[in-house]
Amino acid sequence: KKIIIINGPNLNLLGKREPNIYGSLTFNEFFEQIQSKYSEITLEHYQSNVEGELINKLHKAGFGAYDGIILNAAAYTHTSVGIGDAVAAIETPVVEVHISNTFDREEFRHKSYVSPNAKGVIVGFGLQSYELAIQSF
Ligand code: DQA
Repeated sequence: KKIIIINGPNLNLLGKREPNIYGSLTFNEFFEQIQSKYSEITLEHYQSNVEGELINKLHKAGFGAYDGIILNAAAYTHTSVGIGDAVAAIETPVVEVHISNTFDREEFRHKSYVSPNAKGVIVGFGLQSYELAIQSF
């Protein structure tokens, strides 16, 4: 199986960014852990802070190159009609993940443009959210 994790804005700062909410592990450290734990799966990772680049990546990843896409669109989850439309447009199933429990936070984080077209949504389990998403494929 081949799965790509696509991370949106500010997730390059994991480990340094509000560690009380997002933990103190960097994404690269975590990614190495899951690559060895799920060595039977080919795992790739892409991160961008730029909305259009995330859309371009969804287009490239979304037609046959992968068995699944794990998407944490971060703040764009709550604002981007374009990312929501890209998830609707592609063929590859997308599992939406969030590290924090967005429903336990500000009202503006309760809305997701990704969820209506996602295969499923995993929210609030810390970095384990990504692992649960891997297991779902
Ligand atoms: C997040 C939640 C979003 O509301 C926030 O903007 C993020 C990270 C999460 O993984 O908990 O940047 O997607």
